[in-house]
Amino acid sequence: MGIIGGGPAGLLLARLLHRSGIDSVVLERRDRAYVERRQRAGVLEQGTADTLRDCGAGERLDRQGLVHHGIRLHYGRRSHRLDLRALTGGRSVVVYAQTELVKDLIALQLADGGPLVFGARALAVTGADTARPVVHYAHGGREHTLTCDYVVGCDGFHGITRDAVPAGTRRTYERGYPYSWLGILAGVPPSCDELVYAHSERGFALFSMRSPTVSRLYLQVPNGTDPADWPDERIWDELDARAATWQPARGPVTAKSVLPMRSVVTEPMRYGRVLLAGDAAHLVPPTGAKGLNLAVADVTELARAFARLKDSGSAELLDGWSDTCLRRVWRAEHFSYSMTTMLHTAPGQSAFDTRLQLSQLDRVTSSPHAAAELAENYTGLP
Ligand code: APR
Ligand code: PHB
Repeated sequence: MGIIGGGPAGLLLARLLHRSGIDSVVLERRDRAYVERRQRAGVLEQGTADTLRDCGAGERLDRQGLVHHGIRLHYGRRSHRLDLRALTGGRSVVVYAQTELVKDLIALQLADGGPLVFGARALAVTGADTARPVVHYAHGGREHTLTCDYVVGCDGFHGITRDAVPAGTRRTYERGYPYSWLGILAGVPPSCDELVYAHSERGFALFSMRSPTVSRLYLQVPNGTDPADWPDERIWDELDARAATWQPARGPVTAKSVLPMRSVVTEPMRYGRVLLAGDAAHLVPPTGAKGLNLAVADVTELARAFARLKDSGSAELLDGWSDTCLRRVWRAEHFSYSMTTMLHTAPGQSAFDTRLQLSQLDRVTSSPHAAAELAENYTGLP
């Protein structure tokens, strides 16, 4: 198995295949330090956490991960708690940084997995519609080829594997948003023990965390914002203006970046013996914390399909894999879109649209049925 990309999707797929006795090679273009420090998501659905524990990657997660049984929706200067556990019959989420998850999976792969080649940039995949697809990649100043039974593109949205699917076969569905997120890490204790999603007419704010002493905070900003235009004091002032209730103590900002947001789905997620998993196949706006969890779900299903093929010769799961994933992907796309448009104030938004948002927020925080729908999607549908 050739796996392109050593992010969460590629690393977890390699781990799951290894546990089924299936060999793979992971080709990662960046070096280990780069991949391990890349700030990304931080909320694991219960199913994601269970998958990591089942494959031996749960030790630090259980020691350092923060189990959260609820979230807060803040609007109109008031906060409302959604009791995720009560609303879903017992499901919660775990706050555990993607950087930590990637470190855990890299350590496992290097300890007892197959080859994980850093600095290996895949250039192209040929022979997708043959029995022996080939990955062409550059490493150590030379070009190489890797002939595989299957190639799985886990190379993210900016990867190259999607190009192996002929343009006439590939359908891309996408939606942009008129805003981005400015994300910071700050060495200050979170001001709330659960995540706070704040709607305000100045724009959205999210109060998240990485540990009891490190806050992860986000502000809606215009597309094209330069992080340099947001000195620390301006960030603290704006968080205060949007949700004074949850303003953490001011302290050192240790990371600052702007994240654009897009909804994108590529169909199908398979062409011949080349498959696309995770961000290589789909993107969601980060509001619903679905990106990492979708990547985990894609590769969990795929590993199960390959294990079935190896053990019984049946390709049934593999042949149905793309459709199975896309049903879950579109559900997550809709949930992420709904959370994003409910909570963000678009530039030039009409007063009518703001009233619609407030009506939706009132409904979600007063109706157990509406709250349960959000909670079930947030914690991950079975
Ligand atoms: N050759 C080899 N590796 C590549 C190439 C290439 N041509 N192009 C990209 N990569 C690597 C990137 O360096 C990255 O490490 O593929 C990996 C893709 O990882 P992610 O982008 O993290 O995607 P994925 O593993 O699907 O995880 C999805 O990551 O982007 C976040 O929000 C997203 O949390 C979600 C998660
Ligand atoms: C994060 O902590 O990075 C985070 C949490 C919840 C989200 C998005 C990002 O919805």
